[in-house]
Amino acid sequence: MLNRLTIIGLLGLLAVLPVQAEMRGDPEEGRIIAYTCTGCHGIPFHVNVYPTYSVPRIGGQSYGYIVSSLKAYRSGERRHPTMEAQANTLSDQDIHDVAAYFVTLT
Ligand code: HEC
Repeated sequence: MLNRLTIIGLLGLLAVLPVQAEMRGDPEEGRIIAYTCTGCHGIPFHVNVYPTYSVPRIGGQSYGYIVSSLKAYRSGERRHPTMEAQANTLSDQDIHDVAAYFVTLT
């Protein structure tokens, strides 16, 4: 049983690794990072802890859009104190992981 699962797991890893190494993030890693984001960006999207505070939905946005928005906040190109602070804690890999996670939420 364990052996079979291990083999399936390894095959799965081999299948996705080359792609991830390029530029796709890992949605599983992203799910952990996204834990901080979902307080504001709520899942499913419309519910968040600040009902009177406008927060865009990121679940279901495109991978490229999420990555470029986060990089823009991180570089200060896109100004928003809250999101700049968030993006500053993320590495390139984190950004790709979290984007990979959010695109799974459609
Ligand atoms: C404290 C609340 C808060 C947290 C935590 C937060 N965000 Fe945001 N986020 C916002 C707000 C508010 C905006 C809108 C900013 C603006 O108008 O530019 C935003 C904008 C964004 C956008 C751009 C969306 C668009 O439609 O242009 C992305 C992508 C994003 N956040 C991703 C994240 C990720 C990933 C995390 C976790 C690492 C995160 N956010 C954590 C409040 C938050």
